[in-house]
Amino acid sequence: MKLIFFETTDSTNTYAKLNIENLEDKTVIYTNFQTKGRGRFDRTWVNLGPDNIYMSIVLKPSEKFEQTYSNLTQYLSVCLCRLLEDFGLKPEIKWPNDVLIKNKKVSGILAEAVFKGQSFKGIVLGIGVNLNANSSEISNIDRPATSINLILGKSVNKTEFMKKLLEEFFTGYDEFLEHGFKSIKKEYEKKASFLNKNLKIAVFEDIKEGYCKSIDDFGNLILVDKNGHEQQINMGEIIAEG
Ligand code: BTN
Repeated sequence: MKLIFFETTDSTNTYAKLNIENLEDKTVIYTNFQTKGRGRFDRTWVNLGPDNIYMSIVLKPSEKFEQTYSNLTQYLSVCLCRLLEDFGLKPEIKWPNDVLIKNKKVSGILAEAVFKGQSFKGIVLGIGVNLNANSSEISNIDRPATSINLILGKSVNKTEFMKKLLEEFFTGYDEFLEHGFKSIKKEYEKKASFLNKNLKIAVFEDIKEGYCKSIDDFGNLILVDKNGHEQQINMGEIIAEG
């Protein structure tokens, strides 16, 4: 694993995507400050100061894109939860990969598959963790969010935290690639905040409503609508749950 650090960059994901052909498999790009941090659905990922985590992992597992790669975000969310549990916290996962504590987001993950023409170049797996933010910085985020230091009442060593997260990720990485989501399904389910609840899910412009019955072996959400029809949802975002 190779580490590349920038004091400032536009976005570690953007850097990794643009330079992917010159970056080795398992290179980690991290920074103290992103000027154009990006979230899912073209949202901005707010900068909360240098003691928070903004990093992207470059992965080049094969020449061809495999379906399992889509679940790497869920695998990373589980790895982060394990670490947070070691701090005595009770993290939850909001499908597909947001990590929340007491219903407030502490981490977001953005995976981007990079292709040049038809040819698959790799995956950029970006993660932001609110590790050491102050409440006024958090209030710049337009959704319920918090930071780990605020919950623990003390600051957390960023270098150690990042190192542990990467260790956790790479220790189970090969097994994950071999067996896919199935290999983390039970653990993911235990942390899933959305199971057995009525959900509203935004899939681009479309809003789907129903009862979340389960999650399948590929990390998809199984939603049952009011007529009893089952639907498999593989992208989108939970916008309401109750
Ligand atoms: C989301 O919850 O919408 C995903 C947020 C992902 C943020 C991280 S921070 C490091 C990497 N670089 C980016 O520009 N985005 C990801």
